[in-house]
Parts: sequence; structure tokens; C-alpha cells
Amino acid sequence: MCGIVGYTGKREAYPIIIKGLRRLEYRGYDSAGVALVNEDGLKVYKKKGKVADLEDTLVGVNLHSHTGIGHTRWATHGEPSDRNAHPHTSQNGEIAMIHNGIIENYAQLKNELLKKGYTFKSDTDTEVLLNFIENIKTNNNSTLEEAVRIALRRIVGAYCILLVDKHDPETIIAARKGSPLVIGIGKGEHFLASDASPIIEYTKEVVYVNDYEMAIIRPDELILKNLGNEKQTPFITKLDMELAAIEKGGYDHFMLKEIFEQPTTIQDCLRGRLDAEAGTIIMSGIEKYIGQIMDAPRIIIVACGTSWHAGLVAEYIIEETCRIPVEVEYASEFRYRNPVVNKGDVIIAISQSGETADTLVAIEKAKEQGAIIVGIVNAVGSSIARVSHTGAYTHAGPEIGVASTKAFTAQLAVLTMVALKVGYAKGTLEKDRYLQLCKDLAEIPAKAAEVLKLDNQIKTLAEKYKDAPDFLYLGRGYNFPVALEGALKLKEISYIHAEGYPAAEMKHGPIALVTEVLPVVFVATKDNYHAKVVSNMQEIKARKGKVISIITEGDTVSPTLSDDVIILPPTDEILAPMLSAIPLQLLAYHIGVAKGYDVDKPRNLAKSVTVE
Ligand code: F6R
Repeated sequence: MCGIVGYTGKREAYPIIIKGLRRLEYRGYDSAGVALVNEDGLKVYKKKGKVADLEDTLVGVNLHSHTGIGHTRWATHGEPSDRNAHPHTSQNGEIAMIHNGIIENYAQLKNELLKKGYTFKSDTDTEVLLNFIENIKTNNNSTLEEAVRIALRRIVGAYCILLVDKHDPETIIAARKGSPLVIGIGKGEHFLASDASPIIEYTKEVVYVNDYEMAIIRPDELILKNLGNEKQTPFITKLDMELAAIEKGGYDHFMLKEIFEQPTTIQDCLRGRLDAEAGTIIMSGIEKYIGQIMDAPRIIIVACGTSWHAGLVAEYIIEETCRIPVEVEYASEFRYRNPVVNKGDVIIAISQSGETADTLVAIEKAKEQGAIIVGIVNAVGSSIARVSHTGAYTHAGPEIGVASTKAFTAQLAVLTMVALKVGYAKGTLEKDRYLQLCKDLAEIPAKAAEVLKLDNQIKTLAEKYKDAPDFLYLGRGYNFPVALEGALKLKEISYIHAEGYPAAEMKHGPIALVTEVLPVVFVATKDNYHAKVVSNMQEIKARKGKVISIITEGDTVSPTLSDDVIILPPTDEILAPMLSAIPLQLLAYHIGVAKGYDVDKPRNLAKSVTVE
């Protein structure tokens, strides 16, 4: 949540910052702003709305500067408005700051500052922290760097902050705890951002700043320190990402591009790991801990949102193939109750961004209690990846559309490989079934490409159903989490109320909602429960609901009960979610577009939820 960008070097800072903010808009788009410093002083420009709204107001303005910081906001403290937009300026007008995170003890600090005569222009926790820093700087007659260091020792909460000082126009001070920060190293220039996407076209050499570290950045200098003022050696990493991966490449929206990338992203995820002919799955991170995973008394999966849905599918697959009890927890619940975690328990943390605050804190807590943490993460070098003992990347590439699509199927691909590998090693998955599943898994990318050919059909369906006020999504077994995911996608993108339910559970309440205008989407691909799902279709049809069913080729019964059918290629029931999710993503996308919504930036949402 919130995207931050900074630049210091020989180029004009503003164009670099604005371009970076556009790339980070997926992290929030309630307001945008920049602070630019040069020999003439400090200038701050900010505006409620998207980055483009800020740009419009700056046409014709002299924005010359070689150092600056920029912010795109997802509102926490204070409504979206010009006043609450970042950057904020300190009371004396000399320092500007941007912030991603939440300062939990801001009220106490604010009271202290009010007593000292400070007044506040915004409702934000950020302005409180900034004036707290300014106050320390003035009272101690210290440098900004020292003042920041002293201030941060009193801060409870999460932050990534960037500050510029009117009297020091070539320096940016940065610090992080809990919110991400990447520094790009160029020749005589440095770039700062919440993720690597604003940096990638200028340099591939980056430093991921760790929690409780500060950076003092000038065009020719990068000094990294801990909060105890001890210098740290920056660990330089080479980015493995291409610019094309973060551009739309001819698609109308990132979401559509990412849906269509799935045959490739699933393949990328399997590549180098799965050899279906040889019947091998190589995952070094899993191999290192395979003994502990096989012997785990229990696996707990923690995640949020779409990643939590992937966890539910994984629960079914792992219990089936590995015979290990699995619990799937919302990270936000897990971290605040007092969960029983025993030494030897394995925690699987699933996250696209690798920065979701609830998931991160949940695994930190479980780690303290002796659990082994396996991270299934998309963003390379992200906080969850670094906190985990081991894990496997999903290799889906940057996911920019706010609604998660390709990350979900890549998570399923990785989790399936983990389950097959562990189950086979443990002996709970028989050799023949293991080999067959390896072969079927290898065919998923090609089958996903087949499913995408249904795009036009689904677009027509979207037109037909786009005005429905509610949708129900039903599925059983492996397809139950897919029903949840289909409903989540529709809610996010089209603002239509949708509920996902286990198909059989519908009788215990939601069936009361069924009328002749309620579309009911059945995720009903061929599996062990198919006959039961067909009975549930009968029950909806008998009450005149509109049935849209996602079925497998060769199913002759479901079409007789359905108003519309989407027919998928056959695969093993364990693997079916990787295919059945795709038409649901397309349905949500096309309904959102048909209703005229900005599907890449749905209202109130942000891609990376780094606040709790
Ligand atoms: C839904 C969506 C969110 C995320 C959730 C977890 O489309 O994108 O529900 O899945 O915020 O995010 P990650 O996977 O980054 O931890």
C-alpha cells in the first residue's frame, strides 16, 4: 500500500519519479505527489486522485531538479484529499517526507508535539512522524540523518520513509521497517522505490534494504546504517526482470495481459523443476527441508485473499497426497489470536507480493515458536521470502493488475509440485499415480492455452449477465476454493455482490437467495463429486435460478441443466483448479470492462497490503 519513488543524480528527477509512480500505482491511487529540491529550495506538488491527475496540474510548471521523492497513496489515516496527500512538509517548511506504512503510536507523539506548539495541516500519522523528526533536529541541532535515527527508535509501527531537506539538495534519507524499499545503483545516480519496477529501465543492480536500516543517498554515495549508527555493507543483487514484463504489451489492461500470460507463467513455474518423463521434481528449497516436512505433525498454511484460496486448494492436495493434517488460516486472524504452534510444525506462507503485513507478522510469530517457515512467494527478494527458512518462488513475473490472476495459478502449480514431491518421498502417493500426475501437470500450460480460446464466448456471457445485482459461485472439493476465488474476482473488479459457497452447503441458507434473476456459477469439472454437484444444479434449476456451469468435455448431463456452459479440457481433479479459475477470471474481467470500470485499479483496493 502506497508506492514511493526517489531519485538523485544528474538527470531531471521529475520525469523519473512520475514514471515510477505510474508503475507503482497498483499500490494505491487515492492521491499522488512529489517533492523536488534544488539550489532554490524545496517545492511540493500534490493532488487527490491518480498520478495522471497530478501530472495534469503540473503542465507548464518549472519542475527542474536533480533530486526528488514521489508518492502514490492508499489512504489509512485521513480521507483521500489534497491535504492528506504526501509528501508532507515539516512545520518549518524545510523537510519533506513520504511514507508507506502506519505509525501506531502517532496519537501519543502528536499530543507531545501539540503541547510544544506544533500545528498540523493533515490528518495523517506521517505528518506527526515528520514533525517529531523536525523537533528532534531543531532541539538537538543535529543533522537530518541523526534526527531520523533518534526518532525511529521511538516509533511503533511500520514504515518506509524518504526525506529531503531544503538545505541539502543532493541527499535523500531513507529508512524502513515492515514496508519494502529497493535502491537502484546507477553511475552517479541512485533510484529508490517500493519495488524494482520503477528502477528496472535504468539499472539492474539493486540493494534491498532490511528492516531497521537507514540509507543516506547522494548521487555518488550510498551509505547503509543500522539504527545504532553502525555502517552495514550493502548487498548488491542483480535484477532478473525485463522491462516488457511490466508493460501492457498491446493488451487493454494489465489484468487481461496477466490472464493471457498463464500458459507461459505456469510453464515458467514448472520449468527446470518438473521432468514428467523422468518422473522427477527438483525444488532445492523443499529438498533441504523434506525430512522435516514429511515428518511434520501438522502443516499450517497462512495467507490472505487470493493466496488464501490457493492455500485451501493446497490443503486438499496435501492431505490427499501426503496424509499430513493441514490447517489454512487467514494470516490476519492467526497473528492476533494465540495459536498453538508446536516445534516441528511447518508453516507454508503464500504471498504474491511477499510484503503482505499480516502474512509477514504471522510467520515471524510462528518462527519464534519454533515452526519451520516455507515461503511460496512471487516477488523475488521480498520480505516474506527473506524471513522464510526456505521456500519456492512462483516465477509468475510482476503482477500489476490489482486483482490477482496469474499469481494464483502459479501458486497452485508450485504447491502441487511440493505436495507431489513430499507425498512421493513419504510413500503416501503411489508411484503410478505420482507419475501420472507429473504427466498431467506438464500438460496444464497447453490446456490453459485451450481455455483462453473461450475468451470471446465468456465476453458474450459477460454482456448477458453484467446487470445482475448478485452472483452465487458454487463448487465442491478442489473446486470449492475456485468458487470462492471466482466470487472474489467478481466483487473486486465489477463491484457486484458475489458469494462463494461449497455447493452442498448452499441448502443450509444461501438457497433462499435463488430467484430467476440470480446467476449461479457452478464450478463443476469432472471429479469424484460430480454427480453430487449435478444434484445441486437440479436444486437451483428447480428454483428457476440461472445456471452457468464450468464443466469438462464429455459431460452430457450438466448442459441439460444449465443456461450456459463453459467447457474445459479434461485433467485430473487435483489439477483442475488451474484451469477452472481461468474462465472465472475472464468473466470478472469482461463484466468489469462492460460496466466501464477501471479493472486494473478497482476502487478502494491496493495490490500490496502492507498495513494490517
Ligand atoms: C485479490 C488479491 C488479494 C491478494 C491478497 C494477498 O485479487 O489480489 O486478495 O491476494 O491481498 O496478497 P499477497 O498474495 O501479495 O500476499
